[in-house]
Formats: sequence, structure tokens, C-alpha cells
Amino acid sequence: MRARHLSIFFIFVFGALGGLLFGFDTGIISGASSLIENDFSLNIEQTGFITSSVLIGSSIGALSIGTLSDRFGRKRLLLVASILFLLGSGLSMTAVGFASMVTARIILGFAVGSASALTPAYLAELADAPHRGSLGTMFQLMITAGILLAYVSNLGFLHHNLLGIRDWRWMLGSALIPAAILFIGSLILPESPRYLVEKGNIDEARNVLHELRKNTNEDPDKELTAIQKIANQPKGGWKELVTFARPAVIVAIGLMLLQQLVGINSVIYFLPQVFIKGFGFAEGNAIWISVGIGIVNFLCTILAYQIMDKFNRRTILLFGSIVMAISIGILSVLNFTLTVQAAAVPTMILIAIYIFGFAVSWGPICWLMLGEIFPLNVRGVGNSIGSAANWIGNFIVSQFFLVLLNMFHNNVGGPFAVFTFFAILSIFFVIYMVPETRGKTLEDIEMEMRQKAALKKSAN
Ligand code: BGC
Repeated sequence: MRARHLSIFFIFVFGALGGLLFGFDTGIISGASSLIENDFSLNIEQTGFITSSVLIGSSIGALSIGTLSDRFGRKRLLLVASILFLLGSGLSMTAVGFASMVTARIILGFAVGSASALTPAYLAELADAPHRGSLGTMFQLMITAGILLAYVSNLGFLHHNLLGIRDWRWMLGSALIPAAILFIGSLILPESPRYLVEKGNIDEARNVLHELRKNTNEDPDKELTAIQKIANQPKGGWKELVTFARPAVIVAIGLMLLQQLVGINSVIYFLPQVFIKGFGFAEGNAIWISVGIGIVNFLCTILAYQIMDKFNRRTILLFGSIVMAISIGILSVLNFTLTVQAAAVPTMILIAIYIFGFAVSWGPICWLMLGEIFPLNVRGVGNSIGSAANWIGNFIVSQFFLVLLNMFHNNVGGPFAVFTFFAILSIFFVIYMVPETRGKTLEDIEMEMRQKAALKKSAN
């Protein structure tokens, strides 16, 4: 019995591995970029572009994978993503100059973007309704584990040119290990039962559902019937995204943009630089700041995993928005009123509280809900759109954060005042726009949406 439980657990761990690579490949560059800059004699713009090229690749990858995933299945495309991960990691480890590094990073980005559009829907479609919150949170848990591993790998390899190979090559190359595990995982993982039904593959869907629900209280045959009913609904394809599924599109884009605009990646990618520039920290200590952030972020996401099926998603989102708004609001005021020396320690504490607020709420729930809110036959495309919005938001924050910091003469109060505005906005977005999905099956969520749209239509 226990062994079976474990195997279901492993399906979700393997299924969420794309998150580990997502976190690793976006986190690793913070430690590697200055080393690459020296080695290839790059200017600041070129180094910046090496960082952001992943985000460009991710936006494109996320956008292009959706229709393919509705057509060829989640599992097959995860396999493709894992091959791209292997290719991108190998090429970035062996890059010989700026152009080859950017090419490698764009390929990696493509893989990261694909994984971010595929994984949430895949996990949501495998999970049973009562546990979908925590199982879906596995994706974010993997992202934060990936970020932490990247920071640790930076720390471990820095100035160690093992076997005569430069330290940064080891840092980037270490992504080959999780990429290889994802590759093997995607060979043995089951296909999503919902995708199988959509394609008329009922027997296989039944087998997968029976296997997945073995140790739960859920009835796989009842679930199968409900999925079949949904799969038989008239299909409008892309048109559905602007008709009855439009609320899902708005919620997905809003959640995803706001998740980035509250500024989390200013901390994840740039905090060491902020402490060097704004508070006069020594360069050597900066990497430890990263490791600290990585640990807080990961531990708080474990907490999110524990609570996700116990409270409504909307309640947790509201809680997170309020914690973020208050912590960075105060941070901003302090940095405009206190001296740099006096503000340093409170800033660190407030940033830890802010990370806590994000990690228990907006971090996991945005990806979780992305997998939940779209109707079956446009789920892949819908996830593509939401995921691309996330990468575009990420790109905007990453491009403008340092510029903003510069504008405010290295006072972090400036950019964080802007992020506070978006944290407050996020409160209203949750109250007025975000539906509750906890405890409902994906089919219930879709039926509710269809009924609402039908009511609205008949009222007009
Ligand atoms: C976000 C990433 C961010 C990470 C931090 C994710 O949910 O999408 O952009 O770096 O959380 O933990």
C-alpha cells in the first residue's frame, strides 16, 4: 500500500521536474553572468542580454507549445521539452562566445517556456480534486528547489575550475543532470487521462485513471464518465477563448502578469546587486544573500504545499497580496526616510516577509490555477497564453528593475514603491475577478463556466 502511494507521489515529482529546470536555468545565471562577462570580454549590454535571452525564448516557447499539446498530448511534448533542455544545457556549457551563448540560452528558454505551459495542465489533469492543490503546488516547489540548487551550484563551483574546465561551465552544465532525469521520466510517465478521452482513447484513459486513483477515495469510473461528458461538448476551438472561455483568459493573463509585476524576480535575480550597490555589501557576501533567499523561498513553498487543499485559493491569494503590499510598502517608506545604514537590516527582514507572502500564495497558485481554469479542448492553448503573459511580465520587470533603481540613485524604495502599487492592485483583482476552484473537479469548473456564459447569453 505504502509503495503504491510512493509511486503516485513519484509520478507527480517526475511530472513536475520541468519546474526544477525552470528554476535552475533562470537562477543559475545570477552567479555565472559576471564570470562569463570576464571570460568573453563582454560589455554590460551583452551580459544583460545573456540573462534576458532565456526570457525571450521562454515567451516564444510558451506561446508555440499550446496547440501542439492539444494535438499531440502533454507527455510527448514533455519529452520534446526535455530534449531541448539537454541540448540547451549542453550548448551553454560549451559556448565559445557571445553568439553561441545567446543561441544556447534561447534554446533553453524555449524549453523552460514549453515546460511552464505544459506542466500545470498535465499535473491538474492527473490529480484527483481533493488533492489537486498540493499536487499542483509541486510545480512551484520544484521551481523553488531549482532556484536553490542553482544558487548552491554557483556557490560550490565558484573559482573551482575542475579538470581544467572553467567554473561557469560547470555551473551551466550541471543542468544536464535534471534534464536527463526529466527525459527518462517523460518516457515512463502516463499520458493525461483527460487528453486521452479528448482523443477518443477511452480504454487507455480508464487504465490510467484506475492506476492513479488506486489509493484514493475517488471513483475512477465516475470520473471517466464526467470527462467523457465534457469531451462531448460542442467544440469551437480557438473561438472558445473569446466566447465562453473568455473569463478564463482574463483571469490567466491577469494572475500571470500580476505575479511578475509585484516584483518577485527583482529579489530572485537581482537582490545581491541591490545589496552591493544600495547598501555597500562586499561582492563576496552577495552569493550568501542569494542562498538565504533561496532557502526562505523553498521552505515557505513547502508550507504552501501543506496548506493548499485546506484553505480556499482566493483566501490564500488575498492573504499573500496583503502581506506583500504591507511588507514592501513599509520597506519603501523606510528607505526614503532612514539612512542607508539604518535601513539595511529592516530591509532584509521585510524582504524575507515579502518572499514568505509570495511563496505561500501567488507563487504556487498562479501556476496551479492556470492548469485548472481552462476548458478541456482549449486547455493547451489557454495555458500557452497565460504562461507567455508570465514570461513577458518577467521580461519587463527584469529589463526595468535596474533602470528604475538607477533612476532613484540606488534607493530600493523607488522600485519597491512601484511593486507595492501592483501588490495593492492584486488585492482588487482577486476580489473581483478570480473564481474559486478548490475541491471542484476540472469538469465542474468547466460546466460552471459554460452555464454562466449560457445564462449571460440568454439574458442579452
Ligand atoms: C515565478 C518565477 C519566480 C519564482 C520564484 C514562480 O512562480 O513564475 O518567475 O522566479 O516563482 O519562486
